[in-house]
Amino acid sequence: DKAKLVLDKDYEISKIDEKVFGSFVEPLGRCVYGGIYEPGHPTADEKGFRRDVLELTRPLNVTLNRFPGGNFVSTYRWEDGIGPKEKRPRRAEVAWQCIETNEFGLNEFADWSKLNGSDVMMTVNLATRGVLEAMDCVEYCNFNEGTYWSDLRISHGYKNPHGYRYWCLTNEIDGVWQVGQKTGTDYGRIAREASKGMKLLDDGIKTVLAGSSSPSQATFPGFDAAALEESYDFIDYLSIHQYIGNSKNDTPNYLAKPITTDAYLKTAASTIDYIKAKTRSSKKVKISFDEFNTWHSIAEEDRFSKKWRIAPPLLEDIYTTEDALALGGMLLAVLKNADRVEIACVSELVNCISHIRTRNGGGAWVLPPYYTFLLFSKYGRGTSLVTAIKSPKYDSTDFTDVPYLDAAATIADNGDLTIFAINRSLEETLPLETELRGFSEYKVAEHIVLTSGNPKDTNTEENPNFVTPKSIGDARIDGNKVMANLPKLSWNVIRLQ
Ligand code: AHR
Repeated sequence: DKAKLVLDKDYEISKIDEKVFGSFVEPLGRCVYGGIYEPGHPTADEKGFRRDVLELTRPLNVTLNRFPGGNFVSTYRWEDGIGPKEKRPRRAEVAWQCIETNEFGLNEFADWSKLNGSDVMMTVNLATRGVLEAMDCVEYCNFNEGTYWSDLRISHGYKNPHGYRYWCLTNEIDGVWQVGQKTGTDYGRIAREASKGMKLLDDGIKTVLAGSSSPSQATFPGFDAAALEESYDFIDYLSIHQYIGNSKNDTPNYLAKPITTDAYLKTAASTIDYIKAKTRSSKKVKISFDEFNTWHSIAEEDRFSKKWRIAPPLLEDIYTTEDALALGGMLLAVLKNADRVEIACVSELVNCISHIRTRNGGGAWVLPPYYTFLLFSKYGRGTSLVTAIKSPKYDSTDFTDVPYLDAAATIADNGDLTIFAINRSLEETLPLETELRGFSEYKVAEHIVLTSGNPKDTNTEENPNFVTPKSIGDARIDGNKVMANLPKLSWNVIRLQ
């Protein structure tokens, strides 16, 4: 059976915001220390930034990087990470049960982000700290000069303000694992006041309300609605997070899980609409999907087995080809909801729950989902198109009628058309017929395929190129149709010009 897709040039979902090509850096395990920063490493520059890692992060063209948390932020004092390094306090960091040296703080992240070519989205701690500390951070980062905090920044060698535009109002505060957990109403009130104060200092900033940390939270979407109701006109984005995994080693079921991502984004959008109506607001709050990925070690709680280490390897999942497809499904959900999702951050950038892996003092390499994000970031820009899909289906443990085909399509500003397509089948090639309406004289420029013989295939330091995308697809134009065979278990990027 073949799958069918119809694309019409005039049927757009929306322009895709550049901020959906985001990521996340948390001083967790070896994401920062031994990841992006390792003084003394053979490739480190004078500031300790690993150049070999930059060579892997730069091609991702990450537009916005969230920092520093994450669970990390719930007991974080941002002032610990500024000023002379030798005077910075070491702290017991309770979220990940490690010692935080504070050697790497917000100014180091500013410097690194410039080298990487990405903007910063700062997170302030409203879990265990208050409105004033959040405002102080804005004043330090964004105020020009002539005040205590701005002059302190200048004295630290940063004459120009960092000028950060996007600010997260704490992280996953709905979660019982969070020190400072709050109800939606209590949180909505402090978030509203913090946002108010922060915007009085800098009226150019946009703030992100922390909504649910997972669709499986019993409090979703009530928590989000309650927090929004307290703060709707004062904030700009609702943040939601999601991680999916394959704990039962049931790959067909795992590959269907991005269906829940689409539903989650739509429910979050409905919750926003409900509170917009309820508060009689004319404001359009958007979604910041600022943590998502696949995550397998989530159940292991390995952080508690050995306590108070400095930058130990934590959450270093070995991602495989099946993860590349599962992540792909989540990225397609972002494109399909481009009218509501304006910020999206794949979590995280290096080592922890990440597709870039390093060895302390040694090499750096990438795991298969790295390429899914790379191709999404390279060809997913522009305008997202409505996709009408007809596909053969299957039933899995938790889902019925799962289409073997998952797809999204984008038109770049220069008119290039890209079809992203996943074949979820582990056994069969899926023939795909795409009808193009309103696209004349397009040719197939390239059909890139990421696949491998075994869903568990991956890359290692010794064999770093075992799973890589290749231009081996057979897509071809036939009249107003694009005909292609999608290999079993594959992520496809069909580029037309
Ligand atoms: O990314 C790892 C953790 O996952 C983050 O610290 C937290 O926000 C989420 O639960």
